[in-house]
Amino acid sequence: MIELSAKFLKIFGSAKSVAVLTGAGLSAESGVPTFRGTEGLWSKFRAEELATVEAFLNNPKLVWEWYLHRRELMNQVTPNAGHYALAEMEKYFEDFTLITQNVDGLHRAAGSQHLLELHGNISRNKCLECGKPFRGEINLESGKPPQCECGGRIRPDVVWFGELLPEKVVREAFEAASRANLFFSVGTSSLVYPAAAMPLTANRKGAYLVEINLEPTPLTEFADYSLLGKSGEILPEIIKRLPK
Ligand code: OAD
Repeated sequence: MIELSAKFLKIFGSAKSVAVLTGAGLSAESGVPTFRGTEGLWSKFRAEELATVEAFLNNPKLVWEWYLHRRELMNQVTPNAGHYALAEMEKYFEDFTLITQNVDGLHRAAGSQHLLELHGNISRNKCLECGKPFRGEINLESGKPPQCECGGRIRPDVVWFGELLPEKVVREAFEAASRANLFFSVGTSSLVYPAAAMPLTANRKGAYLVEINLEPTPLTEFADYSLLGKSGEILPEIIKRLPK
């Protein structure tokens, strides 16, 4: 049983508006690799060769192979107790927004409804030029990715380095952060902006800021309450303390 502070439990029990930001750490217990740290993807692969528009234009086949490989891995994983706890949390609050940097679709699979995907979703494709969704198969045998009706190349619908995030999603996320009485930052290194600014915005506008992470991050000094440990263990404990 994890000890939770009385002040946090009081705020948790009475909050009207709650927002949560999640990162790769939340899906780590499902077997999805994180990005940073010794076992993270960016310690083994070079982001600039795989996750930029330039990389895609230079070598679309390589970039597609990497994304199809990750898509296949993500098709095999299932939500963990942390994802389910957040889906459960949503039911208790009048105003609840789940903001995720993850592209793995596990929040939706766990039943979360009011979800903002900041960095896209790895299971979707879109046109590089016009942005139209593409639902056909990705066949790389010819060495070239499929083309959109407009002639543009089809790419994964994720945000790459150097790209802007979907404008409406970011706006809604900052609005939710600004409204929140209580904001949770879970399993993120708090290094990538604009996501990393959301908990700070919430806190500046008066929200009680809770961070859940295996280790301290640049956000920790701003958090009102820092819980060190696994999100798949801490979040279910938090849910158990909600008033019935
Ligand atoms: P990171 O890999 O940067 O950070 C993962 C964080 O999760 C670290 O701070 C870990 O300590 C923590 N962590 C790991 N396992 C955990 C667990 N079981 N419980 C709690 N915390 C745990 O991942 P993100 O912060 O999500 O962007 O990275 C942000 C963005 O950088 C990603 O969305 C991606 C990447 O480049 C794009 O692809 C655009």
